[in-house]
Formats: sequence, structure tokens, C-alpha cells
Amino acid sequence: MRRNIFAACMIIVLISLSITGYAVAKVVEDYFIQKTEDDLETRAFAVRPFLALKIKQEENTLGQLETAVKELGSEIKTRITIVDTDGNVIADSEKDPSDTESHSTRPEIKEAYLGNIGKSVRYSSSLKTEMMYVAIPILENHDVAYVLRLAVPISHINALTRNIWKMFFSASLAGLLVAFLISTIFSRRITKPIEEVSYAAKKISCGNYDLKVPLRPPYETKILAESFNRMAENLQETVGKLKEETDKTRAVLASMAEGLIAVDQNCHVVMMNFAAEKLFKIRQEETLGKHLLEVLRNRELHDLINEVLKTRKGSTREIKINTYDERIFWINVVPIDKENNLDAVAVMRDITELKRLEKMKSDFVSNVSHELKTPLTSISGFAETLLDGAYKSEENCRYFLRIIKQETDRMTRLINELLYLSRIEKPDFSIPKRPVNIASVVNKAVKLLQKNIDDKGHLLNLRLPENLGPVTGDEDSVLEIIINLLDNAIKYTPEGGNITVEIEDESDFISISVADNGIGIAGDELERIFGRFYRVQGPGITSASGTGLGLAVVKHLVESLNGKISVESQLGKGSTFKVSLPKYS
Ligand SMILES: Nc1ncnc2c1ncn2[C@@H]1O[C@H](COP(=O)(O)OP(=O)(O)OP(=O)(O)O)[C@@H](O)[C@H]1O
Ligand SMILES: [Mg+2]
Repeated sequence: MRRNIFAACMIIVLISLSITGYAVAKVVEDYFIQKTEDDLETRAFAVRPFLALKIKQEENTLGQLETAVKELGSEIKTRITIVDTDGNVIADSEKDPSDTESHSTRPEIKEAYLGNIGKSVRYSSSLKTEMMYVAIPILENHDVAYVLRLAVPISHINALTRNIWKMFFSASLAGLLVAFLISTIFSRRITKPIEEVSYAAKKISCGNYDLKVPLRPPYETKILAESFNRMAENLQETVGKLKEETDKTRAVLASMAEGLIAVDQNCHVVMMNFAAEKLFKIRQEETLGKHLLEVLRNRELHDLINEVLKTRKGSTREIKINTYDERIFWINVVPIDKENNLDAVAVMRDITELKRLEKMKSDFVSNVSHELKTPLTSISGFAETLLDGAYKSEENCRYFLRIIKQETDRMTRLINELLYLSRIEKPDFSIPKRPVNIASVVNKAVKLLQKNIDDKGHLLNLRLPENLGPVTGDEDSVLEIIINLLDNAIKYTPEGGNITVEIEDESDFISISVADNGIGIAGDELERIFGRFYRVQGPGITSASGTGLGLAVVKHLVESLNGKISVESQLGKGSTFKVSLPKYS
């Protein structure tokens, strides 16, 4: 910039001095030429009568005319030439007329032939100098008989013009020097504040708003610096507010449990929140600007968003989206009118768990209803049979009442187990973490089920090492686990079977395994036996006494005790259930 100011000053000085120089030289030159011209004209008119008379008197003695012209010419310091109408020079004050060529083509002579005053400035090849010529006619009987031409060299005028140019050239050099000094000082004064402002602007663009531009004279730059500082303060305030707002919005978006994805009118992703990144296992940086179909590969969601973009009306739909597994989302899409550049925001709530719970609830209700309906139907049937007269026979009466008792016992057991399950499934349910001697709990369970073992003639093997330490839990829960596993082994093993209960040390855990050589469980059923009400169906399986809740309770209790449960089974050969519980420390 400084260089520009300097160059501009130089150019201005140069141009203005050149124009002035040219104008002055021109005016002076024009003035002197005009003056010389007027002078020549005056002289011509002054000598014309004398020469006209001389020509008349001495028409035949040209030699005398020549002498007169020479004398006159030297007296008035002017070249005098007399030309006849054929262009022949009849007398010349400075040259011999016989040496001169015809003058009829000279512009001033031609003009004078017409009766006018002819003027011309040109280089005289005979005198080797720039000359001014003025020619006037010499009349005889109102006709042009001769032309009188006066000429003076004008080289002194050219010399004067040259001098003027020289003077202006020197003045220009001096002016340029002064301009150089002044422009250097001024350009520094002008550019310094501008440089300071531009430095501050650069800093602001990097986010440093604290830098202040110093206030310096002159007045204009002071005003500029003040305005700039004020602008920087306002900018800082505005940026601060904007940042605050953005931070708030970002915090809200980040804390949202719902996934949020914003798209532009071409369905290209423009933003997504942390929840969306987590839900779909994607990263915002990698998806920005990409088409939604490319990011989520879900046509239904794409169609829903497109519909909102087209109709400009919000819409809500339940959509299944394949993330790492298939999940169900409740999606609400709203349009955002951004100065006709319509975008849309999709808020997605993962309702997979909710749906699962809903299904579980309805399955549970139908299972419970079904489980209660079966005994109730047989109770009602047998009561009806009794009422129809069966009560009259004592034997029949006992038989039916016994069945009614069995069914009510089954219902009571079912309800008790459901109540127990609902109690241990409550979120606030916690098992006390006490030392439990597992061998003594196994012995207790065996004692409780001894009758059932004996009824079926099973052989029970107990492998209970004595030196094992306690597990962590409470006795009732561990007892419940072992009773359930042992009860199953007894129930699902045909009479005279072999049941082995073994306790083993497994570094941080102690495992209890209950193995039988019973009917076994098919591979595809193994995963489901821990579900509520699940009972394996099949020929030879007498599961009428079971409710299908036992293993659900066991699994829940084991998990509450931070333990593990596993099962190995072969259809027709037997099953081994193994529960590992953490050691007490
Ligand atoms: N040791 C086993 N051998 C073969 N099948 C088994 C064994 N243990 C469980 N099962 C199968 O798993 C199903 C579920 O067992 P679970 O203990 O949950 O219910 P249940 O024994 O039928 O009823 P409940 O235990 O509530 O009286 C059983 O119905 C049975 O088909
Ligand atoms: Mg059972």
C-alpha cells in the first residue's frame, strides 16, 4: 500500500509538471510565433509601398532593386524576397535570385497570389534553419503583379521553448524529490494505522478478540481505530453469545437419549447427535454430506423423510432398522423451513426393549391364563361330576376330591412360584452377601427331596469335598437353586436312574453340578428351557406337575448372586446342569 501511495504521488507530480511544462512552453511558443508573425506582417505592409514604387521605377534595372532590397533587408533584419506571378524570384535580400528555384509552389506565395496574406513556418533548406514567412501581394491596377515575402528565422523561439522544457525538467526532478520525501512521510502516517487494523483483523479471525488498535491521529484514522475496537468488542460479545447458545444446544443434543439426524433437502446428512452415533455405530464426521440411504441403508426411513420434505408436514412412524441387530424405532420427522432451503430432522427413539417388554407382558398374561385354565377346567369338571351324583359313591368321591386337591395344589404352587419370581425380579431385590456352606445346603436339599428320590428308585451320588470354603449369597437362594436342579433331575429321569451332585473348586468360584442319566434335552431346546413357562413337549414326557418356572427362577437367582449357569445335555442320555457361584472373601 505504501508503495502504491508513493507511486501515485510520483505519477501525479510527474503528470502535473509535464502538463504545466507543456502548457507553458506552448503558450510562450504560440505567443512569440504570433508576435513574430504580426511583426513580419506590419513590416511587410510598411515596406510594400516603397518596394512597389521601386519596382515601377526600375522595372528594367533589376540590379538596383536588388541593392535596395538587400539594404532594406539588412536594415530591418529581415529577409526580403520579391517574386513575380510566375514564381520567379526577382530580388532577394540574402540570395542571388538567379540561384533560386521557382517559388510558385510555396504555400505563403500561393496564398498571396490569391490576394491574401500568406503565412508559413518551415525549415529553409537554403538557410538551414527554421523560418517564418509572411507574403503579401503587390498590386498593379488591382491585380497581383508581384509578391513581397518577408522571412525571419525563428530558431530563437525554439531555443526559448527548449529552455523552458529544460527548466521544467529540472523543476520536475526537484518536485519528484520533494514528492518522494513527502509521500514517504505521509504514506507511513496513513498506512501505519491501516496496518495495525489489518493485523488486529487477522488476530480476530483467529479468535483473539482482546487485541486493541491504538488510537492515533489524524482524526480519520483515530475514528477508524475506535470503530474497529468497538466492532471487535461487539463481535466478541456476539460470538460469546452464539457459542453459549451452541454449547447449550450441543449439550441438549448430546444428553438426548433419542437419536437425532438432520438432513438437507437432498436427504444428505447435515448433523447427528451422540445418541444417533451410538445407536447406529457410526461417526458424525464420516457421515456428514453423505446420502441418508448410504448411511443407514433403510428405504422406509428415507421415504418418510422424503415425504416430510415434500409435504412440509411432520410425520411419525414405527420403523425397523438394521443396526448391528434389528431394532425398532419410533421415528418423528419434522420439517425445518430454512429460508426456502427445506431441511428435516428425524428424532428416533429405540423402542425395541419396550416392544419386547410389551410382548413379554402379553405372553406372560396368556401363559398364566393358560396355566390357570387347565387346572380350573379339571376342578370344575370333577366338581360337576360329583354334583351329578358321583358323590354318592364314597370311593368315587374320594377319587375326584383327591384330583381336585392335586389341581388346587398345582395352582397354589404356580401362584407361589410366580409371586417368588416377581419378588426376585423386582429392581430393588438384592440378595444378602453372606458366607454359605454349599455342602450343607446340598444335604438339606437332598433331605427335602429324599422321598421323591426313593419313590423313583434313583441312586444318588454325592461328591462333596469337605475342605471347600463358603460361597457368597444367602442360604435360601442357594437352597432354592439346588432344589430346583435336583427336582428336575429326579423328575426327568426314568425310575432307577443315576443322579450325581458334585461340588468343585474353580479358582474364584465354586461349582455345583447336578447330573442325571434321564431323558435329556434336544440341542435346539437348550436355550429356551430357562424361559418362563417353557416345558419341553414330547412323547414320554410327563410334565404335568411342572410349571416351567423352576429354571427361570434358578437363572435369575444365579445372576443375582453374580454366578454363571450352563447346561450340557443329550437327548435320551441325560443332562448336566452346572452352577458356579463366587467364593466368599
Ligand atoms: N434334568 C432335566 N432333564 C431333562 N429335561 C429337563 C431337565 N431339567 C429341565 N428340563 C426340561 O426343562 C423344562 C423347564 O424346566 P423347569 O424347571 O423350568 O420347569 P418344570 O420343571 O417343568 O416346572 P417347575 O420346575 O416349575 O416345577 C422342563 O419342563 C423339562 O422339559
Ligand atoms: Mg423344574
